[in-house]
Amino acid sequence: MEGNWVPVHTELKGIEIDGKGEIPDDLIGGIYARAGPNLKCWPPSNRHHAFNGEAMLHLVHPTSTNTIKYTNQWVHENLPHQDWSNVGEECPPTFGYADLNAGGWAIARFLILMIKNKLKGFPPISREKVQAGTTSVVHHAGKTFAASEAFQPYQIKIDSESVEPLGFYDFDGELSNRPATSGPPDGVFTAHPAIDPKTGELFYISTNPMPLGEMSYLDFGRVDRAGKLATYFHIPYRIPTASFYHDLWQTEDYIIFVDTSLRKDPARIKKFETLSYFNASFNMRFGIIPKRAKSADEVFYIDTNTPGHIWHSVATRKIHSAKIILYAAKFKNYANLVPIHLQCEDPSFLTKFEIDLKANTVKETIILENVVERPTRNPNFIYNKFAYLRSEGLESREMGMELIKVDLETEKIVGKISCTNKDCIFNEPLFIPRAGSLEEDDGYIMDIVYHPRSESSSYFIWNATSFEETPLFSAELPQRVPYGVHGIWFSKE
Ligand SMILES: [Fe+2]
Repeated sequence: MEGNWVPVHTELKGIEIDGKGEIPDDLIGGIYARAGPNLKCWPPSNRHHAFNGEAMLHLVHPTSTNTIKYTNQWVHENLPHQDWSNVGEECPPTFGYADLNAGGWAIARFLILMIKNKLKGFPPISREKVQAGTTSVVHHAGKTFAASEAFQPYQIKIDSESVEPLGFYDFDGELSNRPATSGPPDGVFTAHPAIDPKTGELFYISTNPMPLGEMSYLDFGRVDRAGKLATYFHIPYRIPTASFYHDLWQTEDYIIFVDTSLRKDPARIKKFETLSYFNASFNMRFGIIPKRAKSADEVFYIDTNTPGHIWHSVATRKIHSAKIILYAAKFKNYANLVPIHLQCEDPSFLTKFEIDLKANTVKETIILENVVERPTRNPNFIYNKFAYLRSEGLESREMGMELIKVDLETEKIVGKISCTNKDCIFNEPLFIPRAGSLEEDDGYIMDIVYHPRSESSSYFIWNATSFEETPLFSAELPQRVPYGVHGIWFSKE
């Protein structure tokens, strides 16, 4: 609830800003959109988790060689239970993720909220349609979604100066009114689908989190390049389940997810313990789904030899058809309160997992001593040689003190961007391929950087090939941009 975690409550529209340097021609006319939770009321009256809040997008629109326009807007869903009249005022009692860590009081708080909503005459709220996802923006088959793993995808229309709310999207009814055997009626989505750059298909896995943290089903979905949910089935899982199924890896043939040691067990709430808990006796395992799978019978798991937690996949390499290498920012341990990106979060290291599909084995090696998270890579390639990450240096701390470029073949840092006046905290790099590029690292890196001394934020574009510290372009934004989650780039086309 301090520093750059504090939300902003002013929405700005199309503010023109001159910056320093030159914006490359192929970026002019595009839009960078950065998603994040931004609690509209403040301060919160219940237990707060930094990743709770309404979805806000920060848009940066380069308009000429040295000019950008900045816009920030909530996704104004206008749902019956939402109150937009209390922006900037103290929040009414509610029920959020952190309440699940309050033990048995969570049950009381949840029941009170249900009764209050009923007395106010609100229609029952589908757990999956509480709000738009705050974690990322997903664009596929001509549609754009505010996305998270907790909610149904919320369709939006982004232009250079606005975010238009269009409504929850259920893939032509596939994610609504599902039979009782398929869990709750409304299905959810993900913040991190894998989009195959060759076929244009989108793959995801999702779980419906239930009121007190239970999980109904673990689902796999394949959306074809036209946007149709073409395959959809349940995957077997182990109980207590993983707390989160956040990100995926892909090869030409497989979608791979991770079942981490951060588990969740609703029975713990009754004992006044946190819902999530790190189970060091549960070694991580990878779930492997053939991309063309028709049923869960084709899904299999391969155990690793260590416990741990992973939020984000970094990249994939293929050695031959039976040997795949995955990279991830892996935490050896994770605190039960799930302090994502706070100073008390455990460190995560760039880790290589060599999976032998024939022998059913995984060999694990940490390849850098730097603490890293928030990776990006060229999305036009399934297998990557280069990864770009936010680095916290050698000790874990809040967000990042530098950005690094890593050559995954040599396992060396080949570029580092830091801040000469030591007044920059990086959020996450985003790699954008240069228009017409053929080489994997031919492109740009963007980020919105926080300056703690002046409590201000700037937008930066760097050269991803040379990874020179001097940016191609930078501009001070008209207001502070709170720490957020993931970004996306829309080219002018
Ligand atoms: Fe994420």
